[in-house]
Amino acid sequence: MCEICHQQFKPGYTAPPPIFRFGGLPMNLRGNWQIARRDLNNPRIIAMVAADHSLLDPEYDEYAASTSRSIVCCRTLALIFMVLLIIRHTLPVVVSRAGNYSLSLIMEILEMAKEASNGSRVSTKPPPEPSPLRRAKFFQANMRVLVTGGAGFIGSHLVDKLMQNEKNEVIVVDNYFTGSKDNLRQWIGHPRFELIRHDVTEPLFVEVDRIYHLACPASPIFYKYNPVKTIKTNVVGTLNMLGLAKRVGARILLTSTSEVYGDPLVHPQTEDYWGNVNPIGVRSCYDEGKRVAETLMYDYHRLHGVEIRIARIFNTYGPRMNLDDGRVVSNFLAQAIRDEPLTVQLPGTQTRSFCYVSEMVDGLTRLMEGDHIGPINIGNPGEFTMLELAETVKEMINPKVKITTVENTPDDPRQRKPDITKAKELLGWEPKIKLNGGIPLMEEDFRKRLGISRK
Ligand SMILES: NC(=O)c1ccc[n+]([C@@H]2O[C@H](COP(=O)([O-])OP(=O)(O)OC[C@H]3O[C@@H](n4cnc5c(N)ncnc54)[C@H](O)[C@@H]3O)[C@@H](O)[C@H]2O)c1
Repeated sequence: MCEICHQQFKPGYTAPPPIFRFGGLPMNLRGNWQIARRDLNNPRIIAMVAADHSLLDPEYDEYAASTSRSIVCCRTLALIFMVLLIIRHTLPVVVSRAGNYSLSLIMEILEMAKEASNGSRVSTKPPPEPSPLRRAKFFQANMRVLVTGGAGFIGSHLVDKLMQNEKNEVIVVDNYFTGSKDNLRQWIGHPRFELIRHDVTEPLFVEVDRIYHLACPASPIFYKYNPVKTIKTNVVGTLNMLGLAKRVGARILLTSTSEVYGDPLVHPQTEDYWGNVNPIGVRSCYDEGKRVAETLMYDYHRLHGVEIRIARIFNTYGPRMNLDDGRVVSNFLAQAIRDEPLTVQLPGTQTRSFCYVSEMVDGLTRLMEGDHIGPINIGNPGEFTMLELAETVKEMINPKVKITTVENTPDDPRQRKPDITKAKELLGWEPKIKLNGGIPLMEEDFRKRLGISRK
């Protein structure tokens, strides 16, 4: 019989010594549940795990072993522990059976948990090594680049740029939620290109050297459509990609967003501004999802030495944006081409800054290949009110069209303008294309897709 939980074993079965295990910060319920279920089904284990986010990482056992500490509870306590995890899933949880373990052990565990939670336990590990094959004498030194969300708007332009370099092999993974194979038509069948239908919320195993992690719907219409899926994509998807980066020794770049600044109280927004985000609003699945994704990037960097890059992207526009996806430039352009009124959300004085997509992609590749991990703002500092943008589109595309106003959506930021000092100094990057230079390039693509030629 188990001396702690009093479970009866089969006749003749001698319970081996208990297994103790300890993890760090519980971050994700699925991981906690998976390991709890595994442990609960195993009569040998009377130890329970303070599970951590790296449980979804294929190498979590190595991580757990490296901490080499244990927290113990019995089956019944394990269930209580699960409930505690659910209630307090961002705090280290310590459950122990009173009397079984000395106070000093508990104090030691609490100290470790505290260290882990305030970030002072920094990895001294060097970055993970790529596979030995990459170092082999006769290996062709191509760079294998994974682009998640590569069938989307920015992703497909990034793929175009990466494919121009003959040294690159590009793998795109996408679930086509907002992206399309059409955006990658020119590369399908190319020997250096691979396209995989895959959802990043599931683990992925591919040998690569660089990961551009873009997968996530970016337009409010799409990210609000299934907010739980959006946050899952940001959190679980980023965990999976970080786990992959760690395993294969790849460098990973996250396309974060200016939305991490929320409705900013600092203008223009600098990278050291922590933001003003509503954690429970309808946009939070995206804004907070990206904030957690940034946190995970830094934690993997500190804890495991993974090489990271974080770009905070501001509004970007250009060909291949989804028609009618609710983003303001594509909305106005499609409306003007269709001869429909341009619908400006009230009050119309809210501002945004717009970067042309080719310049955005240039910023992303510079960040990836540079020495600075970020976060770095990448965007065009030219600032426009929504009314000014509507006037510009009207003037350039269809002077006869009307401009009307409609109700705004909740939590719409009032102002947005990047401070790009860091991008200029650290990446030597500065956008040059003005709005009236970029819109005609986008118009051609939109007219083609809408089947409406210029009168
Ligand atoms: N476009 C912008 O103005 C802007 C601004 C800030 C940040 N960003 C970020 O840049 C990235 C790309 O944005 P975009 O404008 O190209 O958006 P997009 O919607 O055109 O592209 C996103 C791509 O990710 C794919 N995707 C979504 N969920 C997925 C999942 N679970 N698994 C696999 N693939 C998935 C979609 O099918 C799509 O191809 C996003 O991470 C977005 O948050 C964009």
